[in-house]
Amino acid sequence: MSTAIGDVDGDLLIKSWRKDSLPPMVSEVLLGQETIEMRVEQLAQQIQNDYQGKGDLVLVCVLKGAFVFCSDLARHLTMPVEFEFVAVSSYGNDTVSSGEVKIELPFADRSGKNFKGKHLLIVEDILDSGRTAEVLIKFLHTYKPSSVAFSALLRKPTNLKFPINVDYLGFDIPDKYVIGHGLDYAGKFRNWPSIGVLDTSLVTRGGSKYGE
Ligand code: IMP
Ligand code: MG
Repeated sequence: MSTAIGDVDGDLLIKSWRKDSLPPMVSEVLLGQETIEMRVEQLAQQIQNDYQGKGDLVLVCVLKGAFVFCSDLARHLTMPVEFEFVAVSSYGNDTVSSGEVKIELPFADRSGKNFKGKHLLIVEDILDSGRTAEVLIKFLHTYKPSSVAFSALLRKPTNLKFPINVDYLGFDIPDKYVIGHGLDYAGKFRNWPSIGVLDTSLVTRGGSKYGE
């Protein structure tokens, strides 16, 4: 992966925070809850305009990180949609530029009947190098859908190595490791409703990976 994040003192991963203060791992708030909500509502409006009356729309939620964004987005849509979930993991470390991406369908059968002939909208938390998106888009095309579109709450434009067209984008952000609103550090902080920068002064640099 392009960004390698190391280890942190385990105590920081069990500390609670107050609703009006930052979680212990956040050095700076990048996007507040209300800002995110307003943008997600705009994206839902665009999606609604584009897909209304066009046939079956399936939101393909990329686990785990996109579950918050997907749920926010879906609840602003006033048309019937279906949901599918894909689990994607990336392997690699900071010295390897081409990692391997593994895709699983934990709840749908591999025959692809839930995808065939339908409009698929991938819902992803963040586009970093774009490798995950590239592999996932190709994978979904093998099921012969009517179309495949891509939405991401966040994109780090300076890091993009694969040319991915984002049909519905929440925000471009700087190349910093962020947590909250679905995004984790060490599996935690996905439940913090805003998005903030991980306090890397608390992190020992190492070769561990992220990517789900
Ligand atoms: P990509 O394949 O390099 O585009 O990586 C995308 C995946 O890496 C995302 O789906 C996230 O799960 C993860 N990721 C990238 N940047 C961050 C970050 O800043 N915080 C948390 N997860 C991240
Ligand atoms: Mg992800």
